[in-house]
Amino acid sequence: MISAAGCSRPVSAVPLKAENMLHAIDGDVVENAFARDVVRGLSAAVKTLPSRWLYNERGSELFEEITRQDEYYLTRAETSILRERQRDIADFVESGTILVEYGAGAGVKTELLLASLRAPRGYVPIDVADTFLAETSRRIASRFPSLWVRPVEHNFLDLFEIPFGGSGDGRTGFFPGSTMGNLNSSEAKTLLMQMRRHLGGNGRAIIGVDLLKNVDTLLRAYDDSAGVTAAFNLNILERINAELGGDFCLEKFKHVARWNEIEKAVEMHLVSLCDQRVTFYGWTFDFRTSESIHTESSRKYTAESFERLARSGGWKVAELWQDADGLFGMFGLIRC
Ligand SMILES: C[S@@+](CC[C@H](N)C(=O)[O-])C[C@H]1O[C@@H](n2cnc3c(N)ncnc32)[C@H](O)[C@@H]1O
Repeated sequence: MISAAGCSRPVSAVPLKAENMLHAIDGDVVENAFARDVVRGLSAAVKTLPSRWLYNERGSELFEEITRQDEYYLTRAETSILRERQRDIADFVESGTILVEYGAGAGVKTELLLASLRAPRGYVPIDVADTFLAETSRRIASRFPSLWVRPVEHNFLDLFEIPFGGSGDGRTGFFPGSTMGNLNSSEAKTLLMQMRRHLGGNGRAIIGVDLLKNVDTLLRAYDDSAGVTAAFNLNILERINAELGGDFCLEKFKHVARWNEIEKAVEMHLVSLCDQRVTFYGWTFDFRTSESIHTESSRKYTAESFERLARSGGWKVAELWQDADGLFGMFGLIRC
């Protein structure tokens, strides 16, 4: 195995069989989705990694730390909406609802929402981060003992069913944290249509969206001075090393946040600081100095552009709640 010259990092143990990875990229048998995405993403002309792989246990912990950084106004703004507008939001949601949360993470905002709703019956958190999902479910079940809690570990972009049991009425989707902004328009449409199916005929949804604003404020939110977002981004390389036996040298990559004016998105990149070769399982990936891996886009919306997106997935905007500074929007959606 080739190591990046000058890197002192030991090469990790090798938990994945090469045959499995080959099958995965042939598309025959998907044995290891992470390996498949890494091989595809790093083989592309413009290197990318899907952002959902940022969220292993360490990544989820780092994301929670990001939400406490001064520059990261998003969580403060969204939480203030949930506090200030709790009566309006509760009026929008039917009494006795089952709350279905997409990308639940630590579920901190969920507790606020559940506390303000009238007699919620159930809570279904969906996430790919299994440890956080289990912990969030335990904490919410113990805080709301009468609630039926059923965690679902799944990629919310894949087609899947939720084992609701009982009647199909009275379900509310919750998708906070501006996670919608991480999805391109086709992924967002797929998820919105999946939500329609999960939430049933009179389902409603509440979606937290970061609003378009001046670019300096946006870029600072994704490149905090304490370096927490940088650590969050670099953790994806650490994850490849640990889970796929890669030999990335983290010191040879730098976190960069860039504004993409066409996409109206802040992009996170990992930029190679030198010419280097990275390997795992006989695959080699060459990086030129300044070449980057695009790891996440965070799209920013106006009320109009989000309304268009919602309609593409079969929803219309019934309510828009905003914080006092107009930084963030929570959209209340009903079916078209
Ligand atoms: C930006 S964080 C938001 C967390 C929390 N909802 C909040 O508002 O603070 C995104 C969350 O979505 C999860 N996630 C990202 N992509 C996902 C996917 N494709 N399927 C399921 N969960 C996903 C991550 O694991 C993470 O917990």
